[in-house]
Amino acid sequence: MSHTLIAPSVLAADFANLQRDIEMINNSEADWFHIDIMDGVFVPNISFGMPVLRDIAKHATKTIDVHLMIVDPDRYIQTFADLGADILTVHYEACTHLHRTLQAIKAAGMKAGVALNPHTNIALLEDTIEDIDLVCLMSVNPGFGGQSFIENTYHKVASLKDLIEERGCDTKIEIDGGVTNKNAKELAEAGADVLVAGSYVFKSEDPIATIKDLKTLLAK
Ligand code: DX5
Ligand code: ZN
Repeated sequence: MSHTLIAPSVLAADFANLQRDIEMINNSEADWFHIDIMDGVFVPNISFGMPVLRDIAKHATKTIDVHLMIVDPDRYIQTFADLGADILTVHYEACTHLHRTLQAIKAAGMKAGVALNPHTNIALLEDTIEDIDLVCLMSVNPGFGGQSFIENTYHKVASLKDLIEERGCDTKIEIDGGVTNKNAKELAEAGADVLVAGSYVFKSEDPIATIKDLKTLLAK
């Protein structure tokens, strides 16, 4: 990826005006839709589930990046493929047989992602990195939008970038949580390929302009 992608997190959208917000992302310079699925068990919050994703997918014209914050994600891999997910990311901490889960995601026709909680060390991916299309580094504790960015993430991006380069693989790095215009450039310089931004985009006065400004900042 030559330039850093922006993936607005639909969790911060207005759910009473969801189609409007989906069209906004379609018409913006954003690259992906980031969709947060929470089960109230793996994380202390419940977001939304299959019927909502089905309807988002009907209107979305860009890559659908699904972030599963659920226990035992293997149960729903085929369902998410059928619903239109292009990338399916599971949590390292939620998978007993991560290698098997990654193979199952790919067999269902999706790109396979692994998310790491802020406390989870990059070294734990040393034996699977070549099998992972996307590593999502959580820069907040998963479960809620609108939290503050954890500064240790810069260090994790750099370690992960080193591992990917050492192995010569094509794994992309995504940063999720607390992304704003204050940290976007530094994250990209450290090696991030995709930045998820929820509150910063949706709570701004003009989300289309906010996305454009982020893209301009990253292109400099
Ligand atoms: C947190 C979610 C994030 C969240 C990001 O559990 O995975 O994707 O929506 O929201 P902001 O950008 O508001 O931190
Ligand atoms: Zn997310």
